[in-house]
Amino acid sequence: MKQLLKTLTETFSPSGYEDEIRKVILNEVKLLADEVRVDALGNLIVRKKPTNGTKAPKKIMIAAHMDEIGVMVTHVDDNGFVRFTGIGGVYPRNLVGGHVRFANGVSGVIGLEPTSSPSDVPALNKMFVDVGATSKKNCPVKTGDVAGFERSFLDLGDRLVAKSMDDRIGCLVAIEALRELKSTPHDVYFVFTTQEEIGTHGAQTSAYGIDPDLGFSIDVTGWGDTPGQKDFDVALGKGPAIKIRDGGMLSDPRIVEWMIRTAEKAKIPYQREVLLGGTTDARAMQLVRGGVPVGCVSIPCRYVHTPAEMVDFNDVKNAVKLITAMLSNSVSI
Ligand code: CO
Ligand code: ZN
Repeated sequence: MKQLLKTLTETFSPSGYEDEIRKVILNEVKLLADEVRVDALGNLIVRKKPTNGTKAPKKIMIAAHMDEIGVMVTHVDDNGFVRFTGIGGVYPRNLVGGHVRFANGVSGVIGLEPTSSPSDVPALNKMFVDVGATSKKNCPVKTGDVAGFERSFLDLGDRLVAKSMDDRIGCLVAIEALRELKSTPHDVYFVFTTQEEIGTHGAQTSAYGIDPDLGFSIDVTGWGDTPGQKDFDVALGKGPAIKIRDGGMLSDPRIVEWMIRTAEKAKIPYQREVLLGGTTDARAMQLVRGGVPVGCVSIPCRYVHTPAEMVDFNDVKNAVKLITAMLSNSVSI
């Protein structure tokens, strides 16, 4: 599992440019699935059909996003410095000293214009990527090119660190749950979605296409257990978090109840999550067509949207167990 996580997190795939990661995931799931397709927005839809003889199976959609935050070139200046804007939630203070890699393989480092005090962080438009060019002419990237952040996977034992745990850890949990799911009374659709970081776009269209009876997302959430963190009752290593609300959604109480009941029955540790900011694919799924009851299984993650996002491996394994148990048994919602 750690080896697969290393591959998943080191793959390039900013929002809208998910080809590479889709290939990696497809390779893992194709032998486990009953049906695989890719829709117009690039969502990878992986179906596991109900076990023969099941009456009135429920269509359950599980979304984990494949895309990651990145940057896009706005222009290259006369001296070959690459100016950029963010794709998704890109914050200046997380970029200083960073490395990026463009789709064409070109790498660069992030530099910044001088500030009045060395401890100030400038806005994104006062930063640039230095790819080693000396003029606009010899610069190997152009306006509109896209880059992802570069950082190798770090295994600290129980704690694992990577640049795109958000949300490759959700992709890993979905893949492993599919692997563990021997039979199911449901019609299960695992969807590896695109363009979550720019506004849950892939989840919106794939949920419309699938028209599920219920569903949930698997995504990272924040953390409350490092110095100075306040008002967030989620810690690494205490189990997957069952989302009750976030900044964009109230989970359906019946879905929350289903998750808690399953965790308690299977003796899987879990945490109750009330997150004030941010949201997930579940928000988009909830609001398609006539509405869908949804929730979210969250993986507690420190330093979200930096190149060093950290999760606890036990939470990951327990999330796989929880989801496998949920999908293995019938549910009345
Ligand atoms: Co994110
Ligand atoms: Zn995410």
